Amino acid sequence: MSERVGPGARLLVTGGAGFIGSELVRQLLARRDGTRVTVLDKLTYAGNRANLAAVEEDPEQADRFAFVRGDIADASLVEPLIAEADAVLNVAAETHVDRSILDPEAFLRTGVIGVHVLLEAVRREHERAGRGDRLPVRFLQVSTDEVYGDIEAPRRSVEADPLAPRSPYAAAKAAGELLVRAYGTTYGLDAVITRGSNTYGPHQHPEKLIPLFTTNALEGEPLPMYGDGMQVRDWLHVGDHASGIDFVLRHGESGEAYNIAGDHLLPNREVIGLLLAATGRDWSIVRTVPDRPGHDRRYAMDGSKLAALGWRPSVPFADGLPATVAWYRDHPDWIASAKSGDWDAYYARQYGDRLAAGRAVDGTA
Ligand code: NAD
Ligand code: TYD
Repeated sequence: MSERVGPGARLLVTGGAGFIGSELVRQLLARRDGTRVTVLDKLTYAGNRANLAAVEEDPEQADRFAFVRGDIADASLVEPLIAEADAVLNVAAETHVDRSILDPEAFLRTGVIGVHVLLEAVRREHERAGRGDRLPVRFLQVSTDEVYGDIEAPRRSVEADPLAPRSPYAAAKAAGELLVRAYGTTYGLDAVITRGSNTYGPHQHPEKLIPLFTTNALEGEPLPMYGDGMQVRDWLHVGDHASGIDFVLRHGESGEAYNIAGDHLLPNREVIGLLLAATGRDWSIVRTVPDRPGHDRRYAMDGSKLAALGWRPSVPFADGLPATVAWYRDHPDWIASAKSGDWDAYYARQYGDRLAAGRAVDGTA
């Protein structure tokens, strides 16, 4: 497979101030191969410019880095940025399933309209490339295993499976993917899609399971486990997710989608047990609370398509999880900043009634 985007490439990374985007930007620039990165990020409640401090404080990396605050759905902002890029990595999205159930609209605005605006700008550049006015631009859409929907054991999703999203978040991600595929087919854009599994690691917003339960456990607050806690997720370290995206950017075949699987399936109860051990707590702080509506029981992907190209995850969960807990323990200021703004209102809305109805959990069961 030929290298599509080599050293010295100019990359536009949307959502680069978020959890996975900032790890991707740190990796891309730390390679010190001349790659230039522009981040376009709206800095929603989930974005944090401090996630990029390692890059901005390193003079050599800072020199190859630019930050633009703005919305991917803003065509006048997006067009000149894409005109200067060799590749666009669309990492930006609204990303939390529970928030998508409370307020779906922002998910559609960013996940559908935003993707469309990016694709239109890429299409313009593709036409310029066709006239010989510039080199072709590659578009990489970051998607998720949630587009496959609920997967019954022992099946694992493969890339050719139909998309069957079941939450507003997953539906918006599936819609974004379908637009990308349609633009590839109709206009001939060079586009690839990645579908990553549940990701964990430093800098993840505390609304998600692992950082929420870690930070609550560190603070001695209750842990709201949805239903019986037997839902299964495939856990992927953020370093691996970012390296998988970078690998697909360089080696992925145009028009193809690639699963980035963690290959580490666990029921939530087991994850919670490991988090309790890592934070020195016991099951007395865990509450079973009313379930998330439409909660997918199981996600599981087959990662062999990407493995055949030469990529596999490298961080074992047994190492990544305690290291993640240690990172949160060492970064109380980061947690305080993430749990500011609308956090208290969100927490009350999502968990107030649930925790009031919550019951103790027998951790030995
Ligand atoms: P995140 O919520 O931590 O970060 C999202 C970033 O996008 C934030 O910096 C936010 O400010 C920015 N953003 C949101 N809307 C924007 C807009 N309209 N214009 C510009 N910027 C905008 O998300 P994450 O967990 O890092 O996820 C990144 C991507 O990976 C998403 O596309 C998500 O669907 C996908 N994904 C995430 C996971 C996971 O477990 N976290 C798993 C698979 C796929
Ligand atoms: P989450 O981190 O929201 O990711 P996703 O919904 O994208 O898989 O949730 C992971 C699992 O943890 C999922 O089965 C829902 C469950 N969960 C809880 O039990 N309690 C919580 O408070 C949260 C946020 C998630």
